[in-house]
Amino acid sequence: MATRSALINVMEKAADKASRGLKRDFGELENLQVSRKGPADFVSAADLKAEKTIKEELAKARPGYGFLMEESGTQPDSDGSGRRWVVDPLDGTTNFLHGLPHFSISIALEERGEIIAGLVYDPIKNDLFHAERGIGAFHNGRRMRVSARSRLGDCVIGTGAPFLGHGDRPRFLGEVDAITEKTAGIRRWGSAALDLAYIAAGRFDGFWEWGLSRWDVAAGIILVREAGGYVSEVNGKPINPESPSILASNNNIHSDIMKLLRKPLSNQKAP
Ligand code: IPD
Ligand code: CA
Ligand code: CA
Ligand code: CA
Repeated sequence: MATRSALINVMEKAADKASRGLKRDFGELENLQVSRKGPADFVSAADLKAEKTIKEELAKARPGYGFLMEESGTQPDSDGSGRRWVVDPLDGTTNFLHGLPHFSISIALEERGEIIAGLVYDPIKNDLFHAERGIGAFHNGRRMRVSARSRLGDCVIGTGAPFLGHGDRPRFLGEVDAITEKTAGIRRWGSAALDLAYIAAGRFDGFWEWGLSRWDVAAGIILVREAGGYVSEVNGKPINPESPSILASNNNIHSDIMKLLRKPLSNQKAP
């Protein structure tokens, strides 16, 4: 078992406190206030409460760091550290609102755009994933590694579908076809942060999605990297906070998946 650093303790404490509210609300969904941000994009009182709790805890422990949060936006750092917390207080809101027990809290720390620590917590399964740059990635305190699979036919690939009416949909459906033809299968479980954590833990072998935001993936990216995996855009370009797509894998299958994802695009151009 690894000892957790002071930084990870701060992140874990914030996640733990917010998770208590989420678990309470998950047990009383009929009383929860819900509104829509887009055609299939929901936000509930549980998301907002969790975000507030996490912000308060992190600001108390590290005053001066900035924030990028899904529900309340950005706040620049005030201490010149160039550091900011990147937070998704409830990743998998749709699952949560349907009583599906698969959602997470995602907290990352960036320094001048570089992710230096990340934590993803699934309060229902009590799965805590964390990583620090240069130190490694851990699942419930034990070091984790990406899978060693290299034959696509043995691999399970996570993904997420673009929301209703989203322009990436036709392309995505072609990609699903190409990936299902060559792999052991696709999973669409509804929490991108957990999809990435599952690659780091060797459960999934790869994952791709279009249209995610930095708060969905920042913690997951460092989990995958520190567990020995590789993260890029779908076309192989380096990932950055504005990237339109993400492809993460155990490294062994990265270029094979990239080739499959490129295929549907060229197919679409054919008469
Ligand atoms: C969503 C989840 C889902 C992904 C969506 C995200 P939210 O985040 O990560 O897996 O497919 O694109 O928006 O809205 O539940 O935090
Ligand atoms: Ca959302
Ligand atoms: Ca999210
Ligand atoms: Ca969210």
